Amino acid sequence: MSKNLSELSGRKGIDDNLFERIGNSAQSTGSPSQEELSKIADEFLVGNANTFGTSSFYDFTKSENKGKKIYVCNGSACLCAGTQKNVSDILENHFKSEEIGHMTCLGRCYENSAFHYNGKNYSGRDIDNFSVNTPPKSFSKYVGNIDSNSFLTTPFEGFSEFSALIKKTLSRSPEDLLDEIKKSQIRGRGGAGFPMGLKWESCKNETSSQKFIICNADEGDPGAFSDRFLLEERPYSVLFGMIVAGYITGANRGILYIRAEYPEAVEIVQQAIDSIVKSAILTNTNGFNFVFKIIKAKGAYICGEETALINSIEGQRPEVRTRPPFPTQMGLFNKPTVVNNVETLASVHGIIKKGAEFFSKLGTPKSKGTKLVCLDSFFNNPGLYEVEMGSQLSDLVFKLGGGFKTPIKAMQIGGPLGGIVPVSMINELTIDFESFASHGFLLGHASIVCIPESFPMINYLEHLMEFAAYESCGKCFPCRLGTKRGHELLHSAIHENNKIEHSLFQDLLNTLQQASLCAHGGGIPLPIKNAMYYFENELNAYFKK
Ligand SMILES: Cc1cc2nc3c(=O)[nH]c(=O)nc-3n(C[C@H](O)[C@H](O)[C@H](O)COP(=O)(O)O)c2cc1C
Ligand code: SF4
Repeated sequence: MSKNLSELSGRKGIDDNLFERIGNSAQSTGSPSQEELSKIADEFLVGNANTFGTSSFYDFTKSENKGKKIYVCNGSACLCAGTQKNVSDILENHFKSEEIGHMTCLGRCYENSAFHYNGKNYSGRDIDNFSVNTPPKSFSKYVGNIDSNSFLTTPFEGFSEFSALIKKTLSRSPEDLLDEIKKSQIRGRGGAGFPMGLKWESCKNETSSQKFIICNADEGDPGAFSDRFLLEERPYSVLFGMIVAGYITGANRGILYIRAEYPEAVEIVQQAIDSIVKSAILTNTNGFNFVFKIIKAKGAYICGEETALINSIEGQRPEVRTRPPFPTQMGLFNKPTVVNNVETLASVHGIIKKGAEFFSKLGTPKSKGTKLVCLDSFFNNPGLYEVEMGSQLSDLVFKLGGGFKTPIKAMQIGGPLGGIVPVSMINELTIDFESFASHGFLLGHASIVCIPESFPMINYLEHLMEFAAYESCGKCFPCRLGTKRGHELLHSAIHENNKIEHSLFQDLLNTLQQASLCAHGGGIPLPIKNAMYYFENELNAYFKK
């Protein structure tokens, strides 16, 4: 991280920021020219290397992706479902192969066959009706049941309920509200499970005339679509959480960093913001002003990591920062910044409305409240479910999910860095942070991607390492080199019959785990080690001991 670059990037404030300027300059051709990048660099007083380094990082601005017209989802769920080839084959009737790119992931894991065209997402049987001029209307949004008796899936009853709750909430003191959040014992839903109250308190304790609340809506985990659901279907709950965070910590700017792979979410959240602005409920209420801004991401998984996300908004190459200082002390433009996940922020609505005590009575001693869980298309009832923390995984899989459509050998739970849970462990786990961790897995964002019996585990591991290598930010050597070498070893074992030295591979995984700077490189060994433990017999053929 460069303090100096952060200051320079922040000179013009968030409304005229380097990141969007670079992105806008790519709009007409798909990748900005050297001249445009130099001009922007001069204006922001940074070097050409900075603007080039940024634009060459993202899928939506890098020159390799220039000229792409349509993108096929290459996430884990579409891979396991085996739908990508059919989608690509049909699209090749309409486009040259070099015009077809990839995106990971479009959040359509409940029905697969996902693709992105002309700023919109399609999935399921949409591909059967595809035409260049009149692409089909996407006909299914979310399959699955949503328990209406819940925190996250209960909407505000119209704008009037939202504005009444805002008024009531802002009439309380920030200290009183912080106390409520702390008493609820809510922990972050973005993966790390950090207590929300402590994070907000840390930011509140900083003295600064400018602070930021960032909603991390870069949900990049293949298999996860819960943030997409909340942004598209419960935008007021997400915005409510940000407003309360701003009021408690003393921040007056709220930024939603929403992935460009979710175009509908960007539109819907902007409409909700517009209604809030029109109603003027946030203009000098009790001395508090709060202004929102959406920043559309440009296609890079690592930007979900909170410090890479901050660098991204600053228009720097989105490399992970070392901590301390933590974002709450020195975040966006070096100012105190809270970064919270969409689901964490959306939970605040229920906590304030029903009370901390109600929330903290739900769940287990250390994992409170409810959790959204995403089931992919291998379930008889795929889709999104809200369950109480501590619920039996078996109930989710067999009662809500209705069991599997085809024989499944394992589920990857919690995204690409989450564990590979063999079906034999389903009865052992409950849906909470501790149960998963104590059995050697990770709850993460709780998305479930099924690995069918017919899908070779070695191919799944290769897919994971390829993903990790492609998405590595490159800041630290263990991950930058290790994920690439890991992918090469797996690839060559599959395609060139070169057996992998078992101890060498274990060394590589241990180095990644122990020496990586962030949980990207540090986390990828977990699913690989799970698979090597639980699927040793299947994988033995690819290793020499
Ligand atoms: C590689 C990587 C990717 C991540 N992706 C996301 C993401 O897409 N969304 C998210 O909220 N958090 C993601 N995180 C976690 C964030 O760094 C951060 O912990 C989180 O946004 C904090 O919010 P919370 O306290 O509400 O969970 C990711 C972390 C890593 C290491
Ligand atoms: S572990 Fe990977 S993603 Fe994380 S800082 Fe290192 S290179 Fe970047």
